[in-house]
Amino acid sequence: MIKIAPSILAANFSKLAEEVKEVEQAGAQLIHIDVMDGHFVPNITMGPIVVEALRPVTKLPLDVHLMIENPDDFIESFAKAGADYITVHVEACPHLHRTIQLIRSFGVKPGVVLNPHTPIESIQHVLEDIDMVLFMTVNPGFGGQKFIHSVIPKIQKLSTIIKEKGLNIEIEIDGGINEDTIIPCAQAGATIFVAGSAIYSKEDRSKALQDIQEAGER
Ligand code: DX5
Ligand code: ZN
Repeated sequence: MIKIAPSILAANFSKLAEEVKEVEQAGAQLIHIDVMDGHFVPNITMGPIVVEALRPVTKLPLDVHLMIENPDDFIESFAKAGADYITVHVEACPHLHRTIQLIRSFGVKPGVVLNPHTPIESIQHVLEDIDMVLFMTVNPGFGGQKFIHSVIPKIQKLSTIIKEKGLNIEIEIDGGINEDTIIPCAQAGATIFVAGSAIYSKEDRSKALQDIQEAGER
């Protein structure tokens, strides 16, 4: 079963609550929140106050993707604001195991994110400690970029390892997902798909979401 996580980065920020409710009604299973600090990535977006504001608006899990330096300094704030998942970039975490433990200490599900060029070997020693691996299929920083196909073998490889070890880890894909690009990722074993522009740029968000989901389940 494929889960769709609309990214509010592509939503209309002047009516964020309505934008979230609309995709919840359309069948979204998570809400993806892209946090950028202008240092780890060349863009600035939102912080814990947005997570806090959205928490009472939806029953869906809030999937907080931290594209920031020194994520340890902000994990408590995002946890208290109501995050259900917090994912951190391997490239930003010199003490990755400690960061994962910190996320879990607040009762939040930890996940790790790999940039397109980062090998899965970088997370092999924390697989038993996490609930999610997020593969970036664009270079993080902006919505609406083109899907990078060379990530697919990595997804396949990790999916095989997860099955062999009998682990319970979601594989999430983020960047350039639409009804075409979801297909090879789903075939490679991914379970959760972030979609920003492919949903929020469409007039009929419900149809857009369902078309992507159906393509992934085919
Ligand atoms: C990129 C973000 C993505 C982005 C996806 O840095 O992590 O979540 O919002 O947007 P689309 O689906 O438009 O590529
Ligand atoms: Zn994201």
